[in-house]
Amino acid sequence: MNWNDVRKEFPLLVSDPSLCYLDRSATAQKPSCVLDAMRKYYEESNANPLRGLYDLSQAATDAYEDSREAVRSFINAKSTKEIIFTRNASESLNLAAYCLTERLCPGDEIAITIMEHHSNLIPWQIAAKRSGALLRFIECDEEGLITDEAFDAAVGEKTKIVAMTQVSNVLGVRNEIKKFAEKAHKLGALFACDGAQSVPHFRVDVQALGVDFLAFSGHKMCGPMGIGVLYGREKLLEEMPPFLTGGEMIEYVTREGATWAELPHKFEAGTVNAGGAVGLAAAIDYYNKIGRENIEAREQYLGNIAFEALKSVPHLNLLGPREASLHNGIFTFTIDGVHPHDIAEIMNADRICIRAGHHCAQPLMKFLNTPSTARVSLMFYNTEEEILRLEESLKTVRGRMGYAE
Ligand code: ALA
Repeated sequence: MNWNDVRKEFPLLVSDPSLCYLDRSATAQKPSCVLDAMRKYYEESNANPLRGLYDLSQAATDAYEDSREAVRSFINAKSTKEIIFTRNASESLNLAAYCLTERLCPGDEIAITIMEHHSNLIPWQIAAKRSGALLRFIECDEEGLITDEAFDAAVGEKTKIVAMTQVSNVLGVRNEIKKFAEKAHKLGALFACDGAQSVPHFRVDVQALGVDFLAFSGHKMCGPMGIGVLYGREKLLEEMPPFLTGGEMIEYVTREGATWAELPHKFEAGTVNAGGAVGLAAAIDYYNKIGRENIEAREQYLGNIAFEALKSVPHLNLLGPREASLHNGIFTFTIDGVHPHDIAEIMNADRICIRAGHHCAQPLMKFLNTPSTARVSLMFYNTEEEILRLEESLKTVRGRMGYAE
């Protein structure tokens, strides 16, 4: 794989070679093929999908439904009925939590981990409040690892739903989803997985993992913003009530009530984001062309270099796993005496884009005993030279803040 050639496919990176973009966990850059596919869709097939009887609307419907099939195949779902298009992973998780609430009774329990992004925390807080269920937390250790003991301490006979991220957006640590989903199922609980930070970086197979729900976003995997996915087991989606209501999600409407359209349309009210779905399908095609194993290996390779680079910076405290391979390309850190926002601003002055803040994971920040951190996240299009620039720039931070060394 010629990674220099791969990088040339990203117009934003090509047009501004001095920019060092190390924030893929927030959003990834887009290759030309994704931008071209969306433009082609709007130039050649644009009409409102699923409605018109004329050929152009049929072309739009075909483009939209072909995109759904691309997603189905990408995560190995059994049927396209199990693929719901949403705006993003947050909406997907809100949909799951909202529509599962009616299965919960007072005294039931929902279990989530303390490392969840707020998107996989607040929807369950609200589900618990609405139903009278109790929200329980699965703890992690200092490195972010979740042990069987920690899982068993929070998940038991009363647990009805376990919700867990596959990869932490802060620590990069990867949870053993298959094992924990099996344990949850043995207790009769459902298992929802946040795949926002995993699906873009290694092969995720919903059948092999055995999850009941999987949420992810298009924009973190080189697709456009505004398109996300909720995978759900067909039987569960059938049983769930709709989330948003209105156009196209109905079968028949009277003055008094309505019946629902078949899956997946029951969960897709209103005009859909067909252009976004087409863009996501183009991103999937792009991933398949590069090879998902190649992507994973490249990001591990860059991650190993970044791990050593960050460790060489005096006064830098790297949080999370002590092994490079366990970071999955995500590195969160503080620098003694420097606010993370100042780190990010100094990086910005050197044209290096990193994220700083609480990363929408405040309970984890509390556990880590810091209000905020700086974070670097690497994508396959990043380079060894960019990591070297990061290292050199980070080594100047304390000096630029007025420290003697
Ligand atoms: N969830 C995204 C992140 O962690 C925005 O940066």
